[in-house]
Amino acid sequence: MVAQKSLYHPIDIGNVHIDGNLFLAPLAGYTDRAFRAICKDWGASFTYTEMVSSEGLARGSNNTVDLLIRATNEQQLAVQIFLPEASVAQRSLERLLQFNPTVIDINCGCPVPKVVKTGAGSTLLRYPNKIYEIVNTITRCTSVPVSVKIRLGWDANTINYHETTAAALSGGASMITMHARTKAMGYSGKADWPALTDLKQYVQTLSPEVPVFGSGDLFSASAAKEMLEQTGVDGVMFARGAMGNPFIFFETKHLLTSGIMPLPISLEQRIETLLNHLYRLGETRGEDLACREMRKHASAYFKGIPHAAKAKQALVQSTTYAQYEQVCGSIIEGRFLS
Ligand SMILES: Cc1cc2nc3c(=O)[nH]c(=O)nc-3n(C[C@H](O)[C@H](O)[C@H](O)COP(=O)(O)O)c2cc1C
Repeated sequence: MVAQKSLYHPIDIGNVHIDGNLFLAPLAGYTDRAFRAICKDWGASFTYTEMVSSEGLARGSNNTVDLLIRATNEQQLAVQIFLPEASVAQRSLERLLQFNPTVIDINCGCPVPKVVKTGAGSTLLRYPNKIYEIVNTITRCTSVPVSVKIRLGWDANTINYHETTAAALSGGASMITMHARTKAMGYSGKADWPALTDLKQYVQTLSPEVPVFGSGDLFSASAAKEMLEQTGVDGVMFARGAMGNPFIFFETKHLLTSGIMPLPISLEQRIETLLNHLYRLGETRGEDLACREMRKHASAYFKGIPHAAKAKQALVQSTTYAQYEQVCGSIIEGRFLS
């Protein structure tokens, strides 16, 4: 009898072996070194930088380069780049490779006008041949595996994920991730999971060794389990579901490996993680900036927690470590949340 493959399992992306299949998605403005480190602590199998401008890399921009530095607990790191065409890849590759990325991911899904109008991000969905050329250019120059993150298509009338996937695979891509929405949908509406089932079957016929990852509406461990069961994708990429909620990696791994949800994360664990996140941010940004940048994360740590409005308000007004610590202490003592 052939044993059924567990829903939690290792992944091979080309010549790279990853211990598990619960990935942290690229999230512009969120997946910086500090947040990635926290997600690793809570069990993320593999982490992605936020999208990095290939043009910026080619120019040697310091801001761009800062995005490529690993956290101390990141043995492996996927760097996601955005670019309009292969010539830009050619110009930026030498600089990129100096940072030793584990995987190079190509952004073919960003819907933000500033990116789209340069011909990068989801504009590439309209030109599968450009996807082919970008992937082919990179894979000819390096043995670092290339992955591609696509959407269903530009809009409901131009769903073309078979074409974009075929182009990426012919160029030598070693992994495909699909955010199962169109560019026109942005981040609203329901992600089309049946399309993920279809994509997995399609890739299976063309390049069975290439893993397919699903993205879209993964807001809980049970949603991740359902996606894996329903669609047959090889792994999941948590995005908005991980914001203020790095615990989702631990919970999902627990659910997939034991069949049961772990006990809910305690208030103390939540607070300890939040402060740890703040101090990690401070290591690279300094206290002032870390306290400011932490605001967007801090309220997310209390999303869905009953009666947390006052706690969130106090946290976002904190401007020093001492203030954060004081508010956190008060939360644990039961003030704010009652
Ligand atoms: C604030 C924000 C920033 C994002 N930044 C990126 C990015 O830099 N690169 C990328 O490929 N996708 C990016 N995404 C898309 C996510 O990786 C993911 O595919 C999408 O949010 C769908 O998953 P979800 O419905 O579970 O959130 C971003 C999404 C959000 C909400």
